[in-house]
Amino acid sequence: MLSLVVLISGGGSNLRALLEASEDAEFPARVVAIGADRDADGLALGEEFGVPTFTVPYSSHADREAWGDELLAQIQQWQPDLVVLSGLMRLLPPRVVAALSPNLVNTHPAYLPEFPGAHGVRDALAAGAGQTGASLIVVDNGVDEGPIIAQERVPVLAGDTETTLHERIKTVERRLLVQAVLDIANGHVNLKELSHT
Ligand code: GRF
Repeated sequence: MLSLVVLISGGGSNLRALLEASEDAEFPARVVAIGADRDADGLALGEEFGVPTFTVPYSSHADREAWGDELLAQIQQWQPDLVVLSGLMRLLPPRVVAALSPNLVNTHPAYLPEFPGAHGVRDALAAGAGQTGASLIVVDNGVDEGPIIAQERVPVLAGDTETTLHERIKTVERRLLVQAVLDIANGHVNLKELSHT
C-alpha cells in the first residue's frame, strides 16, 4: 500500500479525488496526512474522510527555508512513500525537494512545458491558445520543469473565462492524478527512472 501525504493551498478537489479513490479497498494507495501552507478550505476534507491534517503557515516563518524545514519535519513524521503537491501555491526550497525526490509529484493546469508557473490557466487564455492541458510531473528544482509522468490536452472554448477553463482542466487533472498514483503504486510508473531521463 502506497502511503501519501498531500499538500494543498486551496479547495482540494484533486485531493478529494484521491480520497474518494482510496475508499475502494482495491485502490493501492492511502492518504495518511493532508498538509497546507495556509488555512485552506480543503483541510476540511481531513475531517470528512478521517485523515489527519497539519498546517505550516508560510507567513509565520522568517523565510522560505525556515518554512520548508518545518514543512519537511511535519511530512517526515508520516514517513510517506509519495508526496503529492495538489495545488500547493508555494515553491519548495531546494533542500526539501532533495529530501523527498524523486517521490514528489505536482499537478499543473497546463500542458507543460507550455505555461509553467502560478498562472498557467490565465497565461494560456492571454496567449489566445486554442488548447491547453493538464500535466503531472516529478518535482525538481525548476518551476514546473520536472519529468512528465502524464499529460492530456484540454480545449479552450469560445467565451472561456479563467474559471470555466480551470474547471474543465481540473476534471482532467483529477483523473490523471488518480491514474498516476495507481500506476506508481503498481510499479507501472517508476519515478526514480523517470527522474534520471
Ligand atoms: C489545480 O489546478 C492545480 O494544478 C493548481 O491549483 C489547482 C488546485 O485545485 N496548482 P484543487 O484545490 O485541487 O481544487
